[in-house]
Amino acid sequence: MGERAMSRRGLLLGGAAVAGAGVAGGALARLRAADPTSAPRAAEAPLNGTRTVAFHGARQAGVETPPQAHASFVALDLREEVDADGVRRMMRLLSDDAARLAEGRPVLADTEPELAEVPARLTTTFGFGRGLVERVDPDAVPEWLGPLPEFGHDELDDRWGEADLLVQVCADDPVTVSHAVRAMAKDARAFTRPRWTQTGFRRASGSEPDGTTMRNLMGQVDGTINPVAGTPAFDRLVWRSDGPDWLRGGTSLVLRRIATDLDSWDELDRPAREAVIGRRLSNGAPLTGEDEHDLVDLEATDTSGLPVIPAFAHVRRARSDDPDQQILRRPYNYDLRDHGVPEAGLLFASYQADPLRQFVPIQERLDELDLLNEWVTAVGSAVFAVPPGCEEDGYVGQGLLEG
Ligand code: HEM
Repeated sequence: MGERAMSRRGLLLGGAAVAGAGVAGGALARLRAADPTSAPRAAEAPLNGTRTVAFHGARQAGVETPPQAHASFVALDLREEVDADGVRRMMRLLSDDAARLAEGRPVLADTEPELAEVPARLTTTFGFGRGLVERVDPDAVPEWLGPLPEFGHDELDDRWGEADLLVQVCADDPVTVSHAVRAMAKDARAFTRPRWTQTGFRRASGSEPDGTTMRNLMGQVDGTINPVAGTPAFDRLVWRSDGPDWLRGGTSLVLRRIATDLDSWDELDRPAREAVIGRRLSNGAPLTGEDEHDLVDLEATDTSGLPVIPAFAHVRRARSDDPDQQILRRPYNYDLRDHGVPEAGLLFASYQADPLRQFVPIQERLDELDLLNEWVTAVGSAVFAVPPGCEEDGYVGQGLLEG
């Protein structure tokens, strides 16, 4: 798949396709060189839109999946009259929708079936809020499910707060995301009321080689230190192996809406911006190294004896010696600067086996001291339990709803 993807990108970006587009850079030059005959074969190139990610499986997709370009996080609250049986019917319906959409098939009675034909690596990930689990079985609620402890630097707006059900939809095409959200929202309507929707983006699929670490709107390379999918460390840090049966093989999602003051960030010069994080803007390398993945040396000092990575730099404060105190960060940018309101930032989506043991201590350190706090403020926060995946004859949440 990696190889196929490379040659596809070579084809899409090669010769004629980019002529006059004014695109430059080493990566692009390499891709072009890889396929000098691209233009005549462009018609045969597999399209991004045809790529699929399986919905069924032991784990829900959309966590380990290499992040797609677009995401919508849709939060819904259960209607008062909906009981456990209603939740079961809803999750059967939504799981069926999600499986069809992942394969590029319309949902039942799809009003715009043609929009389903481009799956573009669509994934749907369901998360249960405290309210939903309590409604189904109050004894099954994990202690961490619900609002995080209060942090002094937060300015939380309940508008982006806790909700009963989260539907996270990601794909490499924004039309695909929009259609999937609408199709599932229609099916959920009899059971739920809309709570909020948060929509985010990364670079478009095919703009950069697969595996390139994303950049946030502050211009930083964001996501270098992250558990690597498929490794034992990832399994231990992200997937749950203990606690309530219905959640084994699942995870938790902490979704923080973090507003970023881009205008005052612009006033800082580059060395100061790099000091805030402890990494270079050019390629994300630590200030003590040359390449993005070089080790961060927190002990290094400059000629005046001062630490090269400042004492309150974000990476120093976010890091821990405890190997279990790590999280999977899978954030998306948002930008709603509109009518003069400078609303832009990061939808900070973090997945971990246990938010209290993993997310909270990191956030506590950052809350106490982090140079980045001058420009970023959490304005929304919600926590969800992400159940394991399901097989073709099952549905997400079956362990809770039939346990
Ligand atoms: C808008 C808010 C934030 C921005 C712009 C931001 C940006 C960054 C950047 C640029 C890096 C360095 C590159 C990397 O390893 O990814 C980083 C590292 C990291 N950040 Fe953040 N971050 C934000 C919020 C948070 C929050 C809320 C947490 C967790 C509570 C967090 C946890 C981490 C961790 C664990 C690392 C890796 C530290 C290491 O081991 O080197 N960040 N962040």
